Amino acid sequence: MPSGLVILYATVSGNAEQLALAAAQALRAHGHVAEVHNAADFPAARLREYRAALLIVSTWGEGEPPPDAADFFAALEGEPSLELRNLNYAVLALGSSMYRDFCASGRRVDEDLARHGARRLLDRVECDTKFKADFERWLGRVQEALQKLS
Ligand SMILES: Cc1cc2nc3c(=O)[nH]c(=O)nc-3n(C[C@H](O)[C@H](O)[C@H](O)COP(=O)(O)O)c2cc1C
Repeated sequence: MPSGLVILYATVSGNAEQLALAAAQALRAHGHVAEVHNAADFPAARLREYRAALLIVSTWGEGEPPPDAADFFAALEGEPSLELRNLNYAVLALGSSMYRDFCASGRRVDEDLARHGARRLLDRVECDTKFKADFERWLGRVQEALQKLS
């Protein structure tokens, strides 16, 4: 059985990374063992090795994922045999409501994970540029959901 928690971020200007590190610190303080990886360096198939994943991803261009993480997004979208039924996950999507495709890459990763059979720990949260309060609320709900999982 898969075990453990991974926190993945996809970023251009560092916000998602900063939140991923803050989430890891808070969760470790509550006794969780949490790995943090840049989605740019993480093969999507490795998600099979974990019981839970938190994904903090921003949207760039015109509704695109951060370019560094393009392979991760493409693998998640394009790998029909990827089986993630043992994975529980939560997505925090970063974006700006100034753009037409608000938080599009967060929506994309959320839908792709569900398509591969993974279960949502909670519904996706979409954050505008002032994301601190939304992040803290999301993290509180993540902690409750992880507690129920163990
Ligand atoms: C050039 C540019 C393009 C962007 N495109 C989008 C977009 O299409 N949709 C969206 O929701 N946010 C968009 N954003 C907003 C970013 O997603 C937002 O600032 C986010 O917090 C950046 O997070 P990061 O530092 O982790 O990359 C864009 C920002 C910039 C500067």
